[in-house]
This record gives sequence, C-alpha cells and structure tokens, in this order.
Amino acid sequence: MHPSLFLAALCLGIASAAPQPNQSLDARWSQWKAAHKRLYNKDEEGRRRTVWEMNLKVIEQHNQEYSQGKHSFTMAMNDFGDLTSEEFQQVLSDLKIQKQEDRNVFQAPLFAEIPSSVDWREKGYVTPVKDQGQCQSCWAFSAAGALEGQMFRKTGKLVSLSEQNLVDCSWSQGNEGCRGGLMDFAFQYVMDNGGLESEESYPYLAR
Ligand SMILES: *[C@@H]1O[C@H](CO)[C@@H](O)[C@H](O)[C@H]1NC(C)=O
Repeated sequence: MHPSLFLAALCLGIASAAPQPNQSLDARWSQWKAAHKRLYNKDEEGRRRTVWEMNLKVIEQHNQEYSQGKHSFTMAMNDFGDLTSEEFQQVLSDLKIQKQEDRNVFQAPLFAEIPSSVDWREKGYVTPVKDQGQCQSCWAFSAAGALEGQMFRKTGKLVSLSEQNLVDCSWSQGNEGCRGGLMDFAFQYVMDNGGLESEESYPYLAR
C-alpha cells in the first residue's frame, strides 16, 4: 500500500472510533447546558460532550482521592466544563504583560523581621472568591482585589469593588474589556475617574 493511503486509512479509523457519549450522563449534560446557557451546533455538540465527560471524570476521580485524604481541596463542575485545558488557559490568561523598565523595584529593608508567610484573608483584607466567567478580565479582578485590600488598610472597611466598572470604562486608558487588559491601566482609570464603583452599585456581567 502507498504510505499516504495507509495514513489516510489510519486517520479514518481514528475518526470513526470517536468516543460515544455515556448515556447515563444525558440528564446531567442537559442540566449543565441549560444552567450555563450553551447552544451548540450539531458538529460541536459531540466534541463538547466528550470534553465535558473527560472533565467530569477528572473531578470525580479527584474527589474520590480527596475522601481518601490525598488532596486538601475538592473540585466541582462549573462554567468551564466543556473546555480543554488549552482552551481554558486561552479564556483566562489574556493579561497584557508589559515590560516596565523605568519603575522602582522593591528593596527589602536590611534588618526587618519579616514572617515567612502572611494570610491576608485572616487579617480582613480579602473579599470572597469572585468568578470572571467567560471574559478575559483577569486584569480587572486583580486591580479591584488590590484596591479592596488597600482601601481596607486605609479605612478599616472591606468593600467589594466593581470589575464591571473597569471593564466598561477603562478603554481610553488602554484596556480592552473582555479581550484583555492591564492592572496599571485600571489604576490609571481609577485615578482619572476619582474612584471606583462598588460591586453592589455596579455588578459584574462578564461582558
Ligand atoms: C457512565 O457514567 C456513570 C455515572 O457517572 C459511571 O458510573 C459509569 O462508569 C460511566 N460509564 C462509562 C462506560 O464510562
């Protein structure tokens, strides 16, 4: 057989052996799609289902191991359940890192007593976990989180701040909403604007 024909036959073999969905998960799959507002075309549905089932397997395996004391945390299915690891990285990691050579670099004081670790949550600096959803707005969460801590330090009050305000309004400082951004641009917006809305007054929409 000609090598390229053999290769073609091999590829067909792989394609036709694509995994069948596990029927006992049909109801859970439908619930998950409804909960996370997924509408796939016919081609995509099978592929997404396969990825989702693989992720579910990883989660259940992990939690099984957790119950045997092998891990310190549990896992659960969420909005990202139909994404591969590579796709997930793409969704979450669009931080526009810029080299800033003209900045001051932190110099640790020579004779300070510095603890090896600090849990800022215990000290009241940190708001509960937030969820950026399917929006590359990590920069906004990072900026808001830093400001929440510094506001607490200054005022003694912990107030959750608005990422959506940053996503919507800091374009002229250089951010690009759900397409990515930079904390520095977000801080610049807060300075230009003279403040930032609270989470409560300007809630997050992930768009
Ligand atoms: C199908 O899913 C059920 C429920 O999670 C599981 O118990 C079963 O092992 C799965 N079957 C296969 C063939 O993976």
